[in-house]
Amino acid sequence: MTKMTRFILDESKIPHTWYNIAADLPSPLAPMLHPISKRPIEAADLREIFTEEIIRQEFSLERDIEIPTPVRDVYKLWRPAPLIRARSLERLLDTPAHIYYKYEGVSPSGSHKPNSAVPQAWYNKNAGVRRLVTETGAGQWGASLAFAGQLFGLDVSVFQVRVSFDQKPYRRALMETYGARCVASPSSETKFGRAILESDSNHPGSLGIAISEAVEVAVSDKDTRYALGSVMNHVLLHQTVIGQEAIAQMDMTGEEPDILIGCTGGGSNFAGLIFPFLGQQLRGRRARRYIAAEPAACPTLTRGRYAYDFGDTAGITPLVKMHTLGSSFTPPGLHAGGLRYHGMAPMVSHLYEMGLIEAKSYTQNECFAAGQIFACSEGILPAPESNHAIACAISEAQRCKQEGRSDVILLCLSGHGHFDMSAYQSYAAGKLTDQSYVGSDLEKALSGLPFIAS
Ligand SMILES: Cc1ncc(COP(=O)(O)O)c(C=O)c1O
Repeated sequence: MTKMTRFILDESKIPHTWYNIAADLPSPLAPMLHPISKRPIEAADLREIFTEEIIRQEFSLERDIEIPTPVRDVYKLWRPAPLIRARSLERLLDTPAHIYYKYEGVSPSGSHKPNSAVPQAWYNKNAGVRRLVTETGAGQWGASLAFAGQLFGLDVSVFQVRVSFDQKPYRRALMETYGARCVASPSSETKFGRAILESDSNHPGSLGIAISEAVEVAVSDKDTRYALGSVMNHVLLHQTVIGQEAIAQMDMTGEEPDILIGCTGGGSNFAGLIFPFLGQQLRGRRARRYIAAEPAACPTLTRGRYAYDFGDTAGITPLVKMHTLGSSFTPPGLHAGGLRYHGMAPMVSHLYEMGLIEAKSYTQNECFAAGQIFACSEGILPAPESNHAIACAISEAQRCKQEGRSDVILLCLSGHGHFDMSAYQSYAAGKLTDQSYVGSDLEKALSGLPFIAS
């Protein structure tokens, strides 16, 4: 029998529904709270920023949620995404482990982000919204929403975190090519941005600040809604096309994954890959290991506190219970800008608290080293964010070698790094520093967490 390397599904196998893990959770998520009254949020509280269908999905306990036909039609541009056995990487590592990766870099913008950008744009268009406003770190989400928005005739404005805006000029060019407007955050366009710039005109920005700016704009204009690229339940839900396809593709391999790995910024690609597998487990199938790989410089799950906190820095978003480094914490300016967020998806945090998933952290240099090994063996140049998942997979494969185990490892390769060449250049030149957060800043941010009476 010939050894297969690529496991490809035809477009009829794009899932017809998204998988909602809320239906299978052993205990429910803590409710979102209103930022001022601190009472559980109701649908009406979110109407200024989100459309009806998105709000419905955010609270839904229904297991399978239908993917609208126009969204599935757009998915056909790149889905089903390939599942590939990393045979050259296995040889290079001389490991008995079997390594597979689900490659999301085949999408138009080069990552998993359009899986949610397309439905969000579609629901807003359907609801008569004219403009979407959002934040972006590395620019992957901004580019994805820009692409999806122009497909459905929506204007898109993006607040891009200043440090990434400066590091990744071509991502901004891509957003503008798709017709979006991109502004460095903190900006002088919002009250909150101006206040930050007044205290520090060189502020590097953060996702928390950019979210505050985007939400401020959304609530000030009735024709504008906000779109978020990670963290919230509806975004994680949309990403479950990744894991559902991967289940069908793993069936083609004749193997079952023992260990599933994804990098985590807000948690959406990780959730997208693992939730459908974890759902099988929650409904009685065998247990597996699920590992969230995060940056040592922004170690939300491994070092953060599980507490109610704001999703943004200004404190205007709802309060959510999650692992957080504190919404006033500014993580150091690492190259994996998409992982530079103070919080984690409440759903991912909840699973971590229940001991159903694990988390590990990695430094920039070890991640770029892993990315280079991957590029040299598999040919694909990974996004700096995805390098965290690769670093984790390599260390698991090395452990398998030491222990003589042939575990099956499946990782989400969330995007390619073609717009991140300056980071790879810095790494090759030995100029990449392993930035670490300032402990006293973290302590200060954590001590300022909002008080919620239990
Ligand atoms: C390629 C890539 N992977 C991962 C992430 C992290 O986001 P999430 O944790 O929501 O998947 C990002 C965020 O921008 C990204 O661009």
